[in-house]
Amino acid sequence: MVNEENVDGRLDRKFEAWSEMTGEYRAGVRTLTEYQVVQELVGLLPYADWLDRAPDVGRKQMLIAKIQDEVGHGHIVARVAEDLGGDRDQILTDFVEGKAKLVNAFHYRFETWEEFGPAALLGNSTALVQFQSLKHGTYLPYARALKKIEREESFHYHHALDLTHEMMTSGNEQQRTLVQEAFEKWFPRMLAVFGPDDSEKIRNNPLYQMGLKVASNHELRQRWVAKMVPVFQSLGVRVDPALASYDSDTDRWNYAMPDWKEVANLVRNGGPAYHLWVEKIRRSLARNSVYRDVALSQAA
Ligand SMILES: [Fe+2]
Ligand SMILES: [Fe+2]
Repeated sequence: MVNEENVDGRLDRKFEAWSEMTGEYRAGVRTLTEYQVVQELVGLLPYADWLDRAPDVGRKQMLIAKIQDEVGHGHIVARVAEDLGGDRDQILTDFVEGKAKLVNAFHYRFETWEEFGPAALLGNSTALVQFQSLKHGTYLPYARALKKIEREESFHYHHALDLTHEMMTSGNEQQRTLVQEAFEKWFPRMLAVFGPDDSEKIRNNPLYQMGLKVASNHELRQRWVAKMVPVFQSLGVRVDPALASYDSDTDRWNYAMPDWKEVANLVRNGGPAYHLWVEKIRRSLARNSVYRDVALSQAA
């Protein structure tokens, strides 16, 4: 169901890679997709960080599957960007050189295994809410890519849900406390992932007018809070009303608004794990360049 606001029929006109489109539209698609490539490929590093520490083979296996999916997402979306003149190598080079930004939530590591489940559950659900909206956008190759990605994100979501459930039902007192603390630490970070409230000016945003951005940050954040607070409550996590509370009069959720200056500073200057991820990507680009050069020369 398309439940997105179709102002002036902005979502009706669809585009394929070969359609006639303005330079602005082309640039808009590249902005969105190149941004997502960085989030997919760098955003898997906090997870990969736990590959050798996941407590049993089953968890390791699910983690490997998830990471493999994320690499796939990065490449599928990079292909969409390439169709419109994007350069796959350049996207990661831009990240290493500090020109492409990483969303605030990926600037951290998971400190404990107990933290991993709830943090991943909060993270995967933000991705799902965003993709479920973006897939109604006007650029069809991207919309199709998102439909596939959404199904895989749903698997990641269920893995994280299962992990958190396991911790809350079979874990000891200390582990349940760590889950509770993780929720309180990561919930505000994920609120910030959606970006500052733009509901007043969204209709003037060219990406919105072109039907590439489908809903406002504010609307997506509402949907996410409405979806996830009950999920955590059903898992036995206590949600402090100061963090999020339902207002039955307005049928909306109130939540602790992120400090946007702080978020912008973090993204600009790098959070605790940022430099580690930059170094990892830099080294992997250097290490793999030999293979890339051979593959490209063979292809020529
Ligand atoms: Fe992904
Ligand atoms: Fe994912």
